[in-house]
Amino acid sequence: MRIGILTGGGDAPGLNAAIRAVARRAWVDGHEVMGVHNGWAGLVEPGGVQPLDAHQVSGVLAVGGTMLGTSRVNPVSDPAAMAAVQRHFQEAGLDALVAMGGDDTLSVAKALADRDLAVVGVPKTMDNDLHGTEYCIGFDSAVAIVTEALDRLHTTAAAHHRVMVVEVMGRDTGWVAMMGGLAGGADMIVIPEFPMGLDAIVAHLRRRRERGRDFSIVVVAEGASVAGVTGEPAADGPRDAFGHILLSRRGVGPQLADRIEVETGFETRVTVLGYTQRGGAPTAYDRIWATRVGAAAYDLVVDSGFGLIPVKRGDGVAVTELATVVQEQRRVPEELYRLGQVFY
Ligand code: F6P
Repeated sequence: MRIGILTGGGDAPGLNAAIRAVARRAWVDGHEVMGVHNGWAGLVEPGGVQPLDAHQVSGVLAVGGTMLGTSRVNPVSDPAAMAAVQRHFQEAGLDALVAMGGDDTLSVAKALADRDLAVVGVPKTMDNDLHGTEYCIGFDSAVAIVTEALDRLHTTAAAHHRVMVVEVMGRDTGWVAMMGGLAGGADMIVIPEFPMGLDAIVAHLRRRRERGRDFSIVVVAEGASVAGVTGEPAADGPRDAFGHILLSRRGVGPQLADRIEVETGFETRVTVLGYTQRGGAPTAYDRIWATRVGAAAYDLVVDSGFGLIPVKRGDGVAVTELATVVQEQRRVPEELYRLGQVFY
């Protein structure tokens, strides 16, 4: 068999471990492995599918990013691009493709599986919000970075008696803010699932001062709405190929920090963690999980489980349909959000 591997969407620590797992399992069984470069661009354009050898995957377990490159190229809405993907798939002699990504990449994988291409998925997004799986590659590494940042910001916030607003990633869901905030002892967590107004934030910060807490850490997810701070996004603002507004330009953190300082008079600073959350080495958990889920994706390929994806359920790997993971997003439950509030 000739098996292709593709990584699409935002990179995430652990992708290389998953690539390595698919490839090493395939080589043990005598199969050939091809790397599809730069996400779906590697199949839309000619020449994007190249052989992968053992030398290339050696030493990548601990390395962040993705050795295959990635992009947010989306062929689904363009019939010519979809035809090119199918043509290049065939010309490269692929018998199967393992597509690693979040809801955007996997929605393309599903569309191809619906057209009878031999595709399986691997759940990856540091946002951790794919439906039907309890975990996505990259999340633990992102939470570790947020936690360390909050630990560091605590000491400087305390020394200067400041409010520290920390903007973290999370477009539609607040998993990184929620879990990072819990682990790092945030004094307030603002996420898309539970919209909050500026008035409530200001009142809470004032109450903390009255209780003698002379500094506060506010974690805000980049996609959160804060009434009185964030407006409707401009219809003609910059978007990616999947139509998503570029949240890195939206600036909810800096806007919120400005308004808090004006409203409370408390000295306020902002830190936007940005792409540091996706960069660098994967945690041990991400390396191990990516290895397990990559190996499970290979098993699906040899069992002709096309249109399927291995997912986390309990302590183990289960299998579900690509259609299931892209149908909606997994949102932070109220129980976790309320737990965070206990420590405000
Ligand atoms: O991968 C998901 C994500 O991390 C979102 O949280 C974020 O909005 C987005 O990627 C930013 O990605 P980029 O700017 O690389 O397209």
